Amino acid sequence: MATYRIAVLPGDGIGQEVIPEAVRVLQAVGKGVGVGFEFEQGLVGGAALDAAGVPLPPETLKLCRGAQAILFGAVGGPKWDGVPHEQRPERGLLGLRKELDLYANLRPAKCFPMLVDASPLKRSVVEGTDLLVVRELTGGLYFGEPRGVEQFADGSARAINTMAYTSREIERVARTAFEVARKRRKRLASVDKENVLVVSQLWREVVTRVGKDYPDVTLEHVLVDNCAMALVQRPTQFDVIVTENTFGDILSDEAAILAGSMGMLPSASLGGTVGLYEPVHGTAPDIAGKGIANPLAAILSAAMLLRYAVDMATHADRVESSVLRVLEHGYRTADIGQSGGKVVGTREMGDLIVRELEAQF
Ligand code: NAD
Ligand code: IPM
Ligand code: MN
Repeated sequence: MATYRIAVLPGDGIGQEVIPEAVRVLQAVGKGVGVGFEFEQGLVGGAALDAAGVPLPPETLKLCRGAQAILFGAVGGPKWDGVPHEQRPERGLLGLRKELDLYANLRPAKCFPMLVDASPLKRSVVEGTDLLVVRELTGGLYFGEPRGVEQFADGSARAINTMAYTSREIERVARTAFEVARKRRKRLASVDKENVLVVSQLWREVVTRVGKDYPDVTLEHVLVDNCAMALVQRPTQFDVIVTENTFGDILSDEAAILAGSMGMLPSASLGGTVGLYEPVHGTAPDIAGKGIANPLAAILSAAMLLRYAVDMATHADRVESSVLRVLEHGYRTADIGQSGGKVVGTREMGDLIVRELEAQF
């Protein structure tokens, strides 16, 4: 029997609540098809900071490097908001992305037909939305040097972050985006701020050059401010969006609202030898511990894991269709409850998906 080792890093807040449901879904798939998933838990974020004094302990990194894939929850929360910047829980996630060279973050945002009314946006706007943000994940403002704070004698200060990209960094994520666009509707919007930033000028030049290798994909360039507007005005015009790290962070949260809720958006971070699969949302301190978080983003991230990490596309499809079926039957977590139906908690939603999956084997 094939066996895959999965590093499981729930992290903090609702990460601890949604990841167990994603694990149960993978277990159900494993059982159904006779594949063994070995789950090994690791500490990251605030949980690691409390237990080991650092947000990314060396053992966790080692566990991740030795795994076939990483299933990640979320990190951070008010408890750690006051800790020095380099030790914040969020650094644990950033460290993993950098150490594992996970430069391409795929964030699909799809408005499922039965959730059209879960979005605060009009039906006529969101209906039919099916886009994918490819966010560059290891460069830009998040990692650029110099960075830091200078304190002056008069008590004032100056803080610096640097947005820097090499043509190589742009080229590799652009290739990923063209490749995925090729497998979708063959349209790619590259988002930048070329009218102001030299980094964006290079970005646009490199993406245009890479585009020559993909004549079957229609490339357009969109300024980021305009893209933010277009996403809530006419989201159906987008297929694949490729953009740098910070722009991608912001635009993908905006895209979550097209799908109804942050609780609906999964992601896959690819590039290095081990991929990381995580919901786009954070630790949701406002609802953590209540058992009401939507586990579907985590479960759909597990589906991406099946698709990209272990070459089990058919089973990824099964997980996705189980999610659709449960939604069709009218079950909703509170965040998407506006679309009608019966509101259930995190665990119950997990149960429903697992039951639906088991019926398929
Ligand atoms: P958030 O994504 O945690 O929450 C934003 C809003 O969406 C909240 O109202 C929350 O209740 C809701 N929400 C998010 N996920 C949900 C789910 N699965 N089900 C139902 N509702 C959900 O963003 P935030 O409040 O800006 O950040 C909170 C903390 O999480 C911060 O410490 C931040 O740094 C961290 N964060 C971590 C990650 C990550 O680890 N990948 C991502 C984003 C934010
Ligand atoms: C995300 C999060 C992270 C980011 C934080 C927690 C470091 O917001 O994954 O979108 O900014 O990349
Ligand atoms: Mn974010």
